[in-house]
Amino acid sequence: MSPAEFGSLRAHLISQSSNNLNLTFVVDEDVAANLVPQLHALLIKAEAMRVEDAGVFGPSWQDLYKQDAARAAPWWRARRDELLALAREATPHYVYDLATVRARAQALRSITAIDRWFYASKANAHPAVLREIAAQGFGMECVSPGELARAHEALGATPHEVLFTPNFAPRAEYVAAAATNVHLSLDNLHQLAQWGEVFRGRDILVRLDLGVGRGHHDKVKTGGAKSKFGLALDELADFLRLAAAHEVRVVGLHAHLGSGILEVAHWKEVAIQLASLAERIGSVRVLNLGGGFGVPARGDETALDLAALDAALIEVMTAYPQFELWSEPGRYLIAEAGVLLARVTQTKRKGETRYVGVDAGMHTLIRPALYEAWHEIVNLSRLDADATELVQIVGPICESGDVLGNNRLLPRAQEGDVLLIAQAGAYGAVMSSDYNLRGRAQETVL
Ligand code: LLP
Repeated sequence: MSPAEFGSLRAHLISQSSNNLNLTFVVDEDVAANLVPQLHALLIKAEAMRVEDAGVFGPSWQDLYKQDAARAAPWWRARRDELLALAREATPHYVYDLATVRARAQALRSITAIDRWFYASKANAHPAVLREIAAQGFGMECVSPGELARAHEALGATPHEVLFTPNFAPRAEYVAAAATNVHLSLDNLHQLAQWGEVFRGRDILVRLDLGVGRGHHDKVKTGGAKSKFGLALDELADFLRLAAAHEVRVVGLHAHLGSGILEVAHWKEVAIQLASLAERIGSVRVLNLGGGFGVPARGDETALDLAALDAALIEVMTAYPQFELWSEPGRYLIAEAGVLLARVTQTKRKGETRYVGVDAGMHTLIRPALYEAWHEIVNLSRLDADATELVQIVGPICESGDVLGNNRLLPRAQEGDVLLIAQAGAYGAVMSSDYNLRGRAQETVL
C-alpha cells in the first residue's frame, strides 16, 4: 500500500516476512478495522496473489459461499463449435450474439422508473447491433457526426429518437445537429456565449458535473474539475441566463459520472441531485441519468441488482412525479454479447514467466492496456482440459503494454489453438486501431 493510500493515517511499523506471504502493519487500534478490508482489496486488485498462489491462500469467500451463483453460464459455451468454425475463417474475430443483446435490453426495460432509453452507440456501432437495440425500443445516443450517420443508416425507417451529447465538438457539428430533430445536450458556457444563435428557439439539455466521478478505472470517471466533461455547478446560473438571452429552453438536466458502476446508490444519488436542481429551474421536465451500468468481470464482483435499482428510483420519483427519467447505457447491452477469438501464434518462456502469443493485441482490444481491464480468457480449443500453466497472454504489437491477460491459469496452449476473450462486445472493435498497420478484426453477428 502506497503512502497515498494510507492518506493521513500513521503506520508505526511495516514489516514483510522472509517467505513473502505476510505483511504486518502496526497502526492505531481505532483505524485497524477499516484498514483491513481496504488492504485486502488492494492486495487482490494488484494481482499480488497470482493464480498459482490460490493453493496458499485457499479459495476466496465468494467461491466458498457462491453468493453470485445466479450468474448463468455464458452463451458462448454452448456455441463452441460454431465459434471454432468462425475462427477458421478469420482471426482475430469479434462475434456478437444478438439473443444476449435482446435479453440485456429487456432486463433494462424492466426498470420501469426510467421512462425513455437511449443506447450509447459508442460502445458498439455495428449496424445489426443498432438495429436489434432499436427494435427493443431504445433511442440512440450519439457523440459525433459519424455516429449520427451510422444510426441514421442502420435504422432508416425504424422509429427512434436521437440524443446528441458530444464533448468539445466543433461548432459546425452543433450547427448540423441543430438543423435536425435530435435532442441536444450542451456542457459549457462557450457554446451559448459564442454560438447562442445556433440554438435560438430550441429545447436543450445541459450536462452537469456533479463534482464526483465513478467507475471501474480513473480513466472512465467523468466528474470533478480534472475531468473535461460537464458544466460546473457554479456556472449553472450563468448558463441559464445565457440560455434565456438566446431564447433557448433548458428542458433537461443530464449527468454521466462514469462507466462500470455496480452500486444502485449511484443512480439514486444522481436522480436526487438532478431532481433537486431541476426544481429550481422552472423549465426542466427531463432528468437524464447517463449510462454506466456495470457488468461484473471478475468472480468477486456482484452483478447490478436491477430490481433494487428500480425500487430506489421509484422511491425518488414518487417525490418528484413532474420529471421524466432518461438513461443512456452502452456497455450493459453489449459487453457480454461479444467475444473476441484469437489464434495462438507461438509460446515462449523467459525465466519463470511463460508467454502465449496470439494474433489479437492492444490494436484489437485496448481495454486491458488502457484500463487494466480484466477479461476472462479461455482456450476454446481445449475448453475442458485441465488448466496447468500460468501464462501471460500477449499480442503482436511492439509495445510492452500489449498484454491481454496477466497470470492466467490455462491448459498448455499449442500453436493454432483458439483463445476466446470474453465480455469483449463493448468498447472492443470500436476502440481498435491500425497500429503497426496490422489491420482490424473481422466482425460477425450471430
Ligand atoms: N453517456 C455518456 C455521456 C457517456 O460518455 C458514456 C460513455 C455513456 C453514456 C455510456 O456509458 P456505459 O453505459 O457504456 O458505461 N471505453 C471505456 C468506457 C468509456 C465510456 C465513455 N462514455 C471502457 O471500455 O470501459
